[in-house]
Amino acid sequence: MKTYNVGYLVGSLAKDSINRKLAHALIKLAPEQLKFTEIPFAELPLYSYDYDADYPEAGRNFKKAIESSDAILIITPEYNRSIPGGLKNAIDWASRPWGTNSFAHIPSAVIGTSPGAIGTAVGQQHLRSILGFLNSPQMSSPEGYIQFKDGFLNDAGEVADAGTAKFLASYLEEFHQHIARVLTVLPRGA
Ligand code: FNR
Repeated sequence: MKTYNVGYLVGSLAKDSINRKLAHALIKLAPEQLKFTEIPFAELPLYSYDYDADYPEAGRNFKKAIESSDAILIITPEYNRSIPGGLKNAIDWASRPWGTNSFAHIPSAVIGTSPGAIGTAVGQQHLRSILGFLNSPQMSSPEGYIQFKDGFLNDAGEVADAGTAKFLASYLEEFHQHIARVLTVLPRGA
């Protein structure tokens, strides 16, 4: 059985982040071929191209973690109808120095949750635009705009509603197939 290492980014820095809770619930629903590792970014300083001549260790490690993943899943809140600044900062770090964009050719998918009815839909469109520019082959469908209401997760941190759990499991199976398709054409390390 071929397995894929999926690095995941949680867009929120909040300690009780509902998006991190969603990430953990998703991992429980994922096909066994997908192995998940969180790639943290809270320690990165604010990016500036002044760092490019001598990239700090935190930036190098973050780039390495992206590049050594077979695929990237981003689970993010929407802040002011866009993505949180910390996530954008991390992506900027991975995209530079010029000519060493870590996201190039790495399959990706985005998903997110908020208490609001549109469940991060606008923020995700911004993120899709960024990943497109960075030449990451994204899963275009299904989309995952998840409204986080009371009782969304049970006490074990699992998605409580059977229909929603089934949708999220199919989202992850589609992601698995997307990764397999992309890496057939663009093998990692080639
Ligand atoms: C928000 N929130 C929010 N929600 C939304 O659906 N659309 C939005 O544009 C915003 N904007 C926004 C800006 C800022 C600065 C904050 C702090 C919050 C509410 C947000 O969905 C809610 O706080 C979630 O709990 C954020 O997810 P995490 O951080 O808990 O994963």
